Amino acid sequence: MKKIIISLIFVGCIFGGGYLTKQIQYHNTTEYKLLTKGYTKEQYHTLKKYLNEQQLTSLLNLDVESEILNLVSMKDFKFNHLERYLAYQGPKDVQEKIHLVNADIDKLNIPYHESMIKFMDATYYIKDHMERYMAYQQSHSDLTIDEIITNVNSNLDYDYYTNIQDTDLSKKNLIIVNKYYKLDQNYIPELVSIDHAGHQATKETAEHFNEMIAAAKKEKGYTFKVNSAYRSYNTQNSLYQRYKNQHGFAWAESYSARPGHSEHQTGLAIDMVTSSSTFDNFEDTKEYQWLMNNAHKYGFILRYPKGKEHITGYHYESWHYRYVGKEIATKIHDLNITYEEYYAYFIK
Ligand code: DAL
Ligand code: ZN
Repeated sequence: MKKIIISLIFVGCIFGGGYLTKQIQYHNTTEYKLLTKGYTKEQYHTLKKYLNEQQLTSLLNLDVESEILNLVSMKDFKFNHLERYLAYQGPKDVQEKIHLVNADIDKLNIPYHESMIKFMDATYYIKDHMERYMAYQQSHSDLTIDEIITNVNSNLDYDYYTNIQDTDLSKKNLIIVNKYYKLDQNYIPELVSIDHAGHQATKETAEHFNEMIAAAKKEKGYTFKVNSAYRSYNTQNSLYQRYKNQHGFAWAESYSARPGHSEHQTGLAIDMVTSSSTFDNFEDTKEYQWLMNNAHKYGFILRYPKGKEHITGYHYESWHYRYVGKEIATKIHDLNITYEEYYAYFIK
């Protein structure tokens, strides 16, 4: 009898001990801790489907929120952003919130607005410009999302000749010079002659210019006349002053750059017409048509196109060509965008 009792106690201890050990082990699991924290079993299983053990454990440091359940199952959910998703007073739509936070929009000093996601989805959206897009939209509510992006990328949210920066010379053939980017007064590129009239450009520009006019000559018998190429700072200054005196400030501003702001100082720009045309009627010539269809093949773009005056800040100039290299000239030609837009999105 005694033996039986001892045996029963022994077996009881084994089973009881086993049960107790199991209980203690279960109490140490993340599942148990999360359930104790307030998640239901079903919620726990949802979380477990999307999160690894370590991530589940870190949920113990956060308040229980039903939004967490929505967030984890979304596309592009990033666990390391979880606290930011939860804190962001952004859109109601959880998927949209994930996109905005993943793009760091929650870190900006501006409140959420429904057009943010539209800007982000637009072709030429630049992340660093979001605050400027939003501010510009406030004062230009008549413009489309794409127009706002074009204008802000081209710096048109700033008045002309404000927020001026020294242009980045390391961009070489892709230097931008306009009403917002300038060259130093002393900047002079290495130059070579491009014709017998003494016009000069950089060596690469000259080579491709010669290649281009030789092709026009060979294909069609066309000849071009260079009107202006490299222009020093001082020449720009006197030209601008002369235009201003002759035609007034507004005219000068839309046809001529202020000194240091002319692309002609880069040695990459060439103004050309034919021997029988002037600036005014060059666009009516066959030679101009040929350039429209072929200049990009030799690395040149029409720098101030018709219909893009509000972007370039200049009157249409059928005669002004800018060397950027074949590949990029072809891209710009095909995309039908200005150099302002191209530079902001693809180069800067
Ligand atoms: N005419 C162009 C804009 C210049 O002055 O450089
Ligand atoms: Zn020009």
